[in-house]
Amino acid sequence: MKAKKVFICSNCGHKNSKWEGKCSVCSEWNTFIEEIITKPSSTEKKRSDWHLEKNKDLLPVLIQNVEQNNLYRIPIKDLEFHRTLGGGLVPGSITLIGGDPGIGKSTLLLQLALKSNFPILYVSGEESVEQIKMRADRIGIENQDCHILTETNLNKVLITAQKLKPNLVVIDSIQTIISPLIESAPGSISQVRECTTDLQQFAKESNIPVVIIGHINKEGSIAGPKILEHIVDTVLQFEGDRNHIYRILRTKKNRFGSTDEMGIYAMESTGLRQVQNPSELLLSQSDESLSGSSVAVTIEGLRPMLIETQALVSQAIYGTPQRSATGFDLRRLSMLLAVLEKRAGLFFGQNDVFLNMAGGLKVTDTAIDLAIASALISSLQNIPVNSKICFTGEIGLTGEIRAVNRIEQRIEEASRLGFEEIFVSKYNLKGLKVKDLNIRITGLGKVEDLLSEVFS
Ligand code: TYD
Ligand code: MG
Repeated sequence: MKAKKVFICSNCGHKNSKWEGKCSVCSEWNTFIEEIITKPSSTEKKRSDWHLEKNKDLLPVLIQNVEQNNLYRIPIKDLEFHRTLGGGLVPGSITLIGGDPGIGKSTLLLQLALKSNFPILYVSGEESVEQIKMRADRIGIENQDCHILTETNLNKVLITAQKLKPNLVVIDSIQTIISPLIESAPGSISQVRECTTDLQQFAKESNIPVVIIGHINKEGSIAGPKILEHIVDTVLQFEGDRNHIYRILRTKKNRFGSTDEMGIYAMESTGLRQVQNPSELLLSQSDESLSGSSVAVTIEGLRPMLIETQALVSQAIYGTPQRSATGFDLRRLSMLLAVLEKRAGLFFGQNDVFLNMAGGLKVTDTAIDLAIASALISSLQNIPVNSKICFTGEIGLTGEIRAVNRIEQRIEEASRLGFEEIFVSKYNLKGLKVKDLNIRITGLGKVEDLLSEVFS
């Protein structure tokens, strides 16, 4: 074995013999990190390994002859998790869960280990057994077969896993595990990559699924190169605002299912509670109509969800007016303000604008635009929006209200929750099939129609 010093781009994984300020492959700046890697020397490599005489029995399989006997998935009691994975864990698969520190990744997986009814090996390189026990007592121990190992040496972890033969191995976290084969520090790119590859090999050979936890760096990607996301079968992201109780488990990649599914949780004193009916929690409890607040019908994952949006438009005291948004893209907020200014003649130039999504959730569905525009107008003009009406529609640059997908599902959810009127794009009205619901459906064509229809 030969040790060699290389520089690796932490963004794309490109290797270079010398340090570079800008990566020549992905064009990112300041991403090169020094690493020591050991390689088999050239004499250890056999050059003629691919010669035909030595590999006569090597044959591919005809696709029609492949038997589908590995469709079995391990069901998980936590239904939100079960659904997010696309219907349970696939034996032999490797799943990565990323998220900010303190968001609840360890809690999510320890809870899974404690509430399941099959043998699980939970490996922690971060906490002591006593710390884990304390946390487990808060969550409640139901599984009589939950084994804890506090170890950072990958070889010892794999030996324990082979001896125990559990139905699931959890690694908390990949950044603390080290492979003795590699000299670089824990959490470095080559360590993370080496350990993940070994864990994947273990999963494939033993048919035991492995779930690994990965911390997210400041840029929001899982620390270590993107390569990690390529190695694993499934990438889940656990997100939310630490100051709020709601958490979302999203699928970023799934080799065994759709990436549309997601799970919603609330962090409570006894662990994470599954939230099966998000709408009811994300709406404010009062029936009183207040200015600056309006309700949006969004679809996150595959589920319709009603979210209260809140805007505060106030006179700017200091020179430059402030714009601030939580749970919503700031650039999109600027766009909506510009459209309201140009199309509806409303001026926000002298005002601070603050925007907030209830529950600290991050909303990605653009159908929330119409509700945000209403909340902004409502706060600017100090006219409350009736709390029995809700909105769904995307706003284009010309001020037109654009049609959104799965409109029937959205309307049905709004009606189920007792809303009396829903504002949608007029282009959504054509061919709309909703069965005798107790909700009035009003179509709007342009953003300025809000002024005459809602705020007159
Ligand atoms: P943790 O799972 O340690 O986060 P991560 O592994 O992503 O870094 O979650 C930590 C937070 O969750 C911590 O601030 C305490 C809180 N928490 C609860 O509110 N209730 C609970 O039952 C548990 C176990 C943790
Ligand atoms: Mg943790």
